[in-house]
Amino acid sequence: MKYFVTGLLIGLAVLFSQCLHSGRSCDPRGGGYAGSKACKRCHEEISDDYSHSHHFQTSSIATAEELKGLIGPLAREAADLADRVYFADSSYVRVEEVPGSFLQSCYRGTRSSRSERFDIAFGSGEKAQTYAYWKDSQLLELPLTWYASQRIWANSPGFSIRRAHYERVITSRCFECHASYIGKETVQSGPLSLTEKLDRNSIVFGIDCERCHGPAAQHVRYQAENPGVKTARYIVPIKSLTRQRQLDICAACHSGNDLSPQRSIFSFVPGDTLSHFYFPEFAADIRDPDVHGKQVQLLESSLCFRRSTMTCMTCHNPHETENDKLAGFVSKCMDCHQRSAHAATIFGENEQKKRHFNLSGANCLDCHMPLQMSKTIYFNSGSGEKNIPYFIRTHKIAVYK
Ligand code: HEC
Ligand code: HEC
Ligand code: HEC
Ligand code: HEC
Ligand code: HEC
Ligand code: HEC
Ligand code: HEC
Repeated sequence: MKYFVTGLLIGLAVLFSQCLHSGRSCDPRGGGYAGSKACKRCHEEISDDYSHSHHFQTSSIATAEELKGLIGPLAREAADLADRVYFADSSYVRVEEVPGSFLQSCYRGTRSSRSERFDIAFGSGEKAQTYAYWKDSQLLELPLTWYASQRIWANSPGFSIRRAHYERVITSRCFECHASYIGKETVQSGPLSLTEKLDRNSIVFGIDCERCHGPAAQHVRYQAENPGVKTARYIVPIKSLTRQRQLDICAACHSGNDLSPQRSIFSFVPGDTLSHFYFPEFAADIRDPDVHGKQVQLLESSLCFRRSTMTCMTCHNPHETENDKLAGFVSKCMDCHQRSAHAATIFGENEQKKRHFNLSGANCLDCHMPLQMSKTIYFNSGSGEKNIPYFIRTHKIAVYK
């Protein structure tokens, strides 16, 4: 056994050094991929900006340091109820720190009945962060989710308040939108059921450059070998794609997580047609799309979209995080709406207020892209308490009452 392990380690070491020497990455997605570290050499500014983006941070290993950075110190006093979420069976779950990691432990009275570790985090934590723990080759969701805008722990979205749940399986589908890769094997677990076995060593965390730009190893090799060439080769120029193909890149993840996939969107590359990846939606969902995750359908139903050639990139820079840049969005509206009298007046007033760093709520967004409550995502802080709504800005740009 010992010799086998040593042999394996030597084998891995040789393989790894071969990857290094050949200048090729050992990306779990295969040799076509270079990995986002390889881009920094020539695209330094974009890479630096992007490393702080919510896209890049939307999944990670839940280390103790990162958790502390996000949630701050835990309540120390045993009497402090702030970190507890109660359930109808009078049990409660609390977050506990042990050396090097955090646990979510379920108590009834003073007896702990179950305790699982924070292994993987989903969501950048801008709005919320959900956690999962490994059980063999399955990932299971932890009962509590960090709800950032209220700075509280809440029952994970969709979980019942009857008791604490530790059994909800996280599938590779979450990774398809929140990460860049996970390997899996589908095994028959019953006469009619299939179970996924996830390969935890194959995960590429975060949404990396090649999720949107496609495999770029050949681009990296060519540009490195031909430093005199200042134009790009072996990479899809997104700007030259048709409007629909550009929208499809974002729509792969921003048209909702209730669509039925025909195949994994890990294999989607720019230029692909998204309707080959998802089955068509039911009419009812199309008429009334939820604000959570369905930015594409909402935007498509706006007059702005139908009467112009706008794409997501008209307002968003996909490489940057745009927190607190409302003023920047308002000026995008004005690129097309100079002739609207009230818009021009409001914009002028806002410009004046901006000089005093005091942008009021009187910008276009509060009236024409208001915050709306998600119908599908809501939280509750345990038994006896009302649901806590989850607000997202709608992308149906319109006149609201
Ligand atoms: C050895 C240098 C080099 C490396 C490494 C490199 N690129 Fe490039 N890339 C270039 C050059 C040169 C251009 C053309 C000039 C420009 O647009 O910056 C370019 C252009 C691009 C473009 C724009 C294409 C277009 O026409 O719109 C994209 C997208 C791109 N690279 C993605 C990547 C990604 C993703 C990586 C990492 C996996 C990467 N590049 C690594 C040199 C490099
Ligand atoms: C969420 C999707 C997404 C991700 C992730 C992404 N890009 Fe882009 N990138 C785009 C889109 C879309 C465009 C076209 C921009 C436009 O139309 O204005 C673009 C354009 C570019 C360009 C050419 C235009 C420019 O702005 O110079 C380069 C170079 C580039 N990306 C490199 C990168 C690198 C390097 C990374 C990773 C650090 C990365 N991108 C990550 C979507 C993405
Ligand atoms: C692979 C899936 C995926 C793709 C492709 C993708 N997104 Fe996202 N996007 C996400 C996820 C997941 C989040 C939530 C990030 C978080 O955890 O805060 C997000 C968040 C965002 C946000 C909010 C960002 C913020 O700073 O809080 C914007 C804006 C956005 N995406 C625009 C785009 C645009 C534009 C495109 C196309 C160029 C695109 N996305 C492509 C998955 C994706
Ligand atoms: C089809 C793509 C898709 C799938 C599948 C998906 N998500 Fe998301 N998720 C998103 C997008 C897009 C956002 C951000 C925009 C929004 O909420 O409208 C988001 C937001 C989140 C957030 C809040 C992030 C923040 O701070 O803003 C969490 C947490 C989250 N998702 C967890 C999960 C988990 C866990 C799963 C699997 C059970 C999952 N998601 C499946 C696309 C997806
Ligand atoms: C690419 C150009 C473009 C951009 C950017 C744009 N719009 Fe529009 N919008 C239009 C067009 C075209 C119409 C159709 C009416 C018209 O021609 O004035 C329209 C219509 C509207 C309407 C009337 C909607 C209705 O249903 O009656 C509102 C309100 C509006 N826009 C607000 C905004 C706001 C707010 C923003 C910024 C968040 C914005 N628009 C950004 C092009 C744009
Ligand atoms: C007319 C301008 C405009 C266009 C076009 C646009 N957005 Fe947005 N988007 C905004 C504004 C404004 C916000 C709110 C920013 C804020 O509150 O900080 C926003 C926020 C978001 C968010 C974060 C939502 C939230 O509340 O967490 C996501 C995700 C997003 N956009 C995705 C997209 C996608 C995908 C597309 C293309 C289908 C798109 N946007 C097109 C203006 C636009
Ligand atoms: C206090 C709420 C409010 C604010 C703030 C606001 N609007 Fe409006 N807007 C309205 C209402 C109400 C209408 C419908 C009025 C009508 O039909 O005469 C409207 C109509 C519009 C229209 C279609 C009719 C027209 O005037 O062309 C556009 C375009 C528009 N708004 C753009 C904007 C932009 C851009 C901003 C920000 C600079 C803005 N609005 C700020 C309430 C608002």
